[in-house]
Amino acid sequence: MPNKRISVCEPFLNGNETKYVMDAVSTGWISSSGSYVTKFEEAFSGYCGVKHGVAVCNGTVALHLALAALGIGKGDEVIIPSFTMIATAFAVCYVGAMPVFVDADKDTWNIDVTKIEEKITSRTKAIIPVHIFGNPCDMDAIVDIAKRHNLFIVEDAAEAHGATYHGHKVGSFSDIACFSFFANKNVTTGEGGMCVTDDERYDDLLRYYKNVCFPTHGPRNYLHDDIGFNYRMSNIHAAIGLAQTEKADDYKKMRMTNHMLYKKHLADVSGIIFQKDEEESENVGWMNTIIVDPDKYGRTSDELIAHLKDNNIDTRLLFKSMHVQPALKKYGCDCSGEYPVTDLLSENGFYLPSASNLNEEDIAHICGVIHEFAR
Ligand SMILES: Cc1ncc(COP(=O)(O)O)c(C=O)c1O
Repeated sequence: MPNKRISVCEPFLNGNETKYVMDAVSTGWISSSGSYVTKFEEAFSGYCGVKHGVAVCNGTVALHLALAALGIGKGDEVIIPSFTMIATAFAVCYVGAMPVFVDADKDTWNIDVTKIEEKITSRTKAIIPVHIFGNPCDMDAIVDIAKRHNLFIVEDAAEAHGATYHGHKVGSFSDIACFSFFANKNVTTGEGGMCVTDDERYDDLLRYYKNVCFPTHGPRNYLHDDIGFNYRMSNIHAAIGLAQTEKADDYKKMRMTNHMLYKKHLADVSGIIFQKDEEESENVGWMNTIIVDPDKYGRTSDELIAHLKDNNIDTRLLFKSMHVQPALKKYGCDCSGEYPVTDLLSENGFYLPSASNLNEEDIAHICGVIHEFAR
């Protein structure tokens, strides 16, 4: 039995990262003006099958920038899943709009598309579907709702680099899509993010707002017409991002191999439930997440988490629902109503180790620990 500690997710950097970073450093191009930024934007947006990419310093600001570029602001409402990372909601607050929550689907854990329309009002301007843990949302249904109600779609693809829906990459189903390149992501720059879009006007606006509203064309006279942000990505981060994008399909394959191994090894453990992968979608296995049914497994998720820790296996709790977030209550969000699927996930779910380079022996060991603890 391996007694080394198995962490939840370490970055895997096995390509040209060092070469490109050394090049950026040795040539002195370390700010956002260096050529790796453009190379990374072209490579990553191309990987998504989308025309334009605008690199920024993290996934949270990518979402903020997208909403700003779409002109969403005070008095507007934006529909988001109740089961998501807090950044999705915060981005809506940053532009002064109101996040409105929709519960998760009990099988896919993505936004429940059957519950979106009941939340649409005359103030609704956009939907932010989040491809949870790398598993694509039901984009046909979401695109249909958005078209009928004249709403923008901003995909939160922070966790889903390279995932596909009906053969097309996520990031290509919306007005603007946002990615995170945090260290635990399938494609990482340490800290980083990107907005991708097919629309040249949005590309221009994203670049404008990201760079303190300096004009994107023509000379700078240091007069600023609008309030902008400094959300630029450095050339050093972009150098890592380019190298990672070159290997994005390898990382996706490694994570999905691990995902399938977890499912195989835990298939006959009663009460361990995985997110459902839909036939039309290709998940990227960002995080192997389970929920524990204590009646069937014979232990609670807290007991299992503690037992895994005793065996040197790290885990992470899942997000808490948006409707219980003190910050969002203070902001004025309507936190009434029931979100039973999100509550179930928050109370009984956690991440298992999921790094790209986790090996089969590690996974067999982790699953063995889970297996023998069942009652
Ligand atoms: C769904 C989702 N949205 C947004 C973000 C924010 O990304 P970042 O941490 O790069 O700001 C994350 C981060 O993990 C996320 O999981």
